[in-house]
Amino acid sequence: MNLNLTKAKKPVFHSLKITKKELLTKTIFTLEFEIPIELKENFAFESGQYLSLKGKNLDQEIIRDYSLTSAPFENKISLGIKLGDKDSFTTDLFEEYKVGDFLEISEPKGRFTLVSKPNEHRTILGFAAGIGITPILSHLKNILHEEPRTRFYLFFGNANSKKIPFKNELDDLLLLYKDRLEIFYFYSKETTDLLFQGHLNDKKLHLIINQILNLDDTDEESTIWDAVDEILICGTGEMIKSLANESFNRGIPKKNIHFELFDTFNEDIYPTEQEFPLIENIEVEFKVYGENFKTNLRNNKYKLLQQLLDQGFKVPYSCKSGICGICECTLQEGDVELLENEYLTEKEEKTGKILACQSIVLSKKIKVNFDSV
Ligand code: FES
Repeated sequence: MNLNLTKAKKPVFHSLKITKKELLTKTIFTLEFEIPIELKENFAFESGQYLSLKGKNLDQEIIRDYSLTSAPFENKISLGIKLGDKDSFTTDLFEEYKVGDFLEISEPKGRFTLVSKPNEHRTILGFAAGIGITPILSHLKNILHEEPRTRFYLFFGNANSKKIPFKNELDDLLLLYKDRLEIFYFYSKETTDLLFQGHLNDKKLHLIINQILNLDDTDEESTIWDAVDEILICGTGEMIKSLANESFNRGIPKKNIHFELFDTFNEDIYPTEQEFPLIENIEVEFKVYGENFKTNLRNNKYKLLQQLLDQGFKVPYSCKSGICGICECTLQEGDVELLENEYLTEKEEKTGKILACQSIVLSKKIKVNFDSV
């Protein structure tokens, strides 16, 4: 993750020492950190989570989020970082910090997590593109380590075979878990077998289901796709939207499709199915990161979060699908319809909590607070 999408609540930072810095490809490097014994609990994490790094760029404070690539059992904090942010924060990180230096790091956060089920025999698929491999790598290691009967299929897209981050680590994992791990590489800028050429999207998933996830050695009556329990997707919004919808249309429940956005994406992941009475010129007051704003929405045809993003407001979000809870806020005035909700409990909903990414406004005026969570 390399976007500033942290929840409105201010993250807690600690100063940690860099213990390793390694360039993996021309544009991707890793940083590892030492966790002092007194901070072990603060930095306990789950696979799929991320941390924020705080630094300065042209005298401005910058906070950026990066996914953990280590798994909890490895007892280390390791991040995968892509060089080339527009504001050059990552370039400064790579060029100016060396092993032994200290960086300000937040405690782990994020909801791109899975409940571990060590007694089950699960089939889990991972789809990653480029740097999107980072949280999936942590999941993959954790799942294969914690669940001795679970199998994992990774579909990993990159520009070409020379630019595959974490390839050595993935090769080692293939040797370690040869009966339960399979990895398939896809290239968008390299000529290869047609199945493995191009981007990971709905059409590619169709081919993958028919040509890779077809016959299941463990059950001749069904296919590997029929056995899929969970799907993890990490990459661009376009990729997630395409793969998540195709997976859902092919029978995987939304609650079993987990994803983490690695870019700004101004569309809903799943289409809105219900229709609502049209309300126009809606007055919105909201508070986020300590500041109060007022604006107007043209109408209620689109969800609240999307309309605020379209107007250029920096409001927190990640999944845009009612799963991660990053866009949680409190409705202080007005009325909304919450469409999908895999995050808030009934009790939280009763206290006025809503998910902006899944809220359709149903009143002429609303007031929400993103800082109250
Ligand atoms: S952005 Fe994930 S629940 Fe709204």
